[in-house]
Order: sequence, then C-alpha cells, then structure tokens
Amino acid sequence: MSTALQPVDSVEILVLIDNKTDALSSLPEGFTDEWVNLHKAGMEQISGAGQCCANHGLALIITAQRGGTKHVMLFDAGPVDFAVEYNASRLGASFGEIEAITLSHGHWDHAGGIPAAIDLIRQGGQTGDLPVYLHPGMFRKRAFPLSTGELIEIREIATPDELSAQGAMPVVTDQPLSVLDDMFYISGEIPRVTSYEAGFPGHVQRNAEDTGWEDDPLLMDERYVAVNIAGKGLVVFSACSHAGIVNVLHAARRDFPGVPIHALTGGFHLAGGNERIIEDTVADFEQFNIGLILPGHCTGWRATNALERAYGERVVPIAVGMKIPL
Ligand SMILES: [Fe+2]
Repeated sequence: MSTALQPVDSVEILVLIDNKTDALSSLPEGFTDEWVNLHKAGMEQISGAGQCCANHGLALIITAQRGGTKHVMLFDAGPVDFAVEYNASRLGASFGEIEAITLSHGHWDHAGGIPAAIDLIRQGGQTGDLPVYLHPGMFRKRAFPLSTGELIEIREIATPDELSAQGAMPVVTDQPLSVLDDMFYISGEIPRVTSYEAGFPGHVQRNAEDTGWEDDPLLMDERYVAVNIAGKGLVVFSACSHAGIVNVLHAARRDFPGVPIHALTGGFHLAGGNERIIEDTVADFEQFNIGLILPGHCTGWRATNALERAYGERVVPIAVGMKIPL
C-alpha cells in the first residue's frame, strides 16, 4: 500500500460523537454548532429528543476534497451503537458516502459503535469494499483502574471475523498507509520520545481468561490519521493519545518533515492520572506552531483550560454535532 499522502483542497469534520455537548459557545467563522446543523438537517423545533447525545467516546466523519473528487472516512465509531444511530439520524449524516473506517486503538469508547456504523453505511447505499483499518494489537482483553483503584474490565471490541461477517473488509496491519486516493494517512506505531508521556498507567491486558494480567501502559496499537491541505498543512487526528499527544506531534513532524501542522483534533488524554503532565504538554505544543487546537473527548477540562490560557483563540474545544471546515 502507498504511504504517499497527497494534498487535498479542503477538509470538513463532523463531530458525530464526543463527550461534550455545547451549542452555545461562540465559534470561529465557518464553524457551525450542533443546533445549526440539526436545523439544517430538518429539526423544526428545539426539544430534548431532537438534540444529539454526548457520550464518553469519539467518532468523527472526515470529508476530504481535491478538485472534483471527494472521499469520506469515519475515524472511530464512539462507544455504543445507540449513540451512532441517535446522532446520525438527527444530524442527517450521509453514512452512504463513508468509504472507509479507521479505528484508532482497541478501546470500547472508539469501537463500540462500529456495528451500527457499518449497518448505516450499507443502508445508506455504500456498495464498495468498506475497509476497516485495524492494528493487530487491538484484540486482547483489557482492563484499567477506576479512580478508586479497583480494576474494571473493558468490553472487547468486534473482531476482524465479526466485521467481515457484517460485510466490511478488515485490514489488520501495524504499518503506515495512505488510502482513498492518498488523501488520508493512517500512521504506523507512534514512537515514544518524550520523557514525561508514560501512556496509561495501570492499564493491563491479557490473552485469555486463564492468563494473568500484564502491564500495558503504552497501548502500542494506537495510531493517528492525517490529511494534508494544500497551502495550509496537516490536519492531525489523534483519538485518545495514549501514545502522548506530544509524541503524536513528533511522529507527524517525522512522517511529514517541513509540513506545518494546520490543525490538531481528538482526545489528548490529559485527565485523571495524566493531569500531572499538562504543564509539560502545553509548553511543548509551542514548538509545533499549531494553527488550530481542537481538543475533545478525553482531553479533560483542566488541560483544555490550560491550552486556552496558553494559545488563546487558536484553541476551540469540539462538541457533538459541530461541523468544522478546514
Ligand atoms: Fe478514548
């Protein structure tokens, strides 16, 4: 497969699922909030049942355009089928246009809604192969400590066989690749280079019920996605950043030397035990001169506030239902 990412003319992101709902905060020109997008999709009056639901997880519908060619990728599918169906129907999301799914890493809050997403894509009229890009390290049993210290098991994600049975085409690899006419780059494993980003302390995994838990703080199955907008630079998508969001930025700079980082979005995982690295992370963002920092999902309010204090109007927290033109 090719890794020769080619520039596109524009990118639009629809935030299908995020932890946060916020249709009130002002947005940069061109961005549209959830209620505007619901209204465009046919919502005639505001009501509780008409709104999207926020849910712990992430799903972004990314549309890239070059000349007359358009390609659409679903980056993660949120935590549960219900959230995909509920928000997609309200937002009138064009699932039939989605040609590929990338799963960022093997956690429920990004993978739980993949069955519903595949069904909606097929019901929407997509008859292509529908590749689902996966990493071989995603499928072990996993658990992590709650804030009380108790270990909580994580619901397994769909297996490649289950995805095949549903009519999708799993592509399981740890190698980087460019897809959809080289408009989208899916990274390989992300090198850990910073001294302070230690992954997800306490996260464990095992192969089967009868084997003991092994430490797995690094979650090496996590990858990032990038699109390169001509004349602007990279849009970097990092869903949960267990690799460390600064490690992700270093990887993007290594993978695309000399290309500016126009925008960065996803979950930066700076909550809970990672609140101790907020200061280092915010300081290290400076060297990447990121045009737009769009934190969501697992970033946490303390890190979002710290980023806003440091980088001002370049920081725009994402929320469910938001459309972002880049
Ligand atoms: Fe996550």
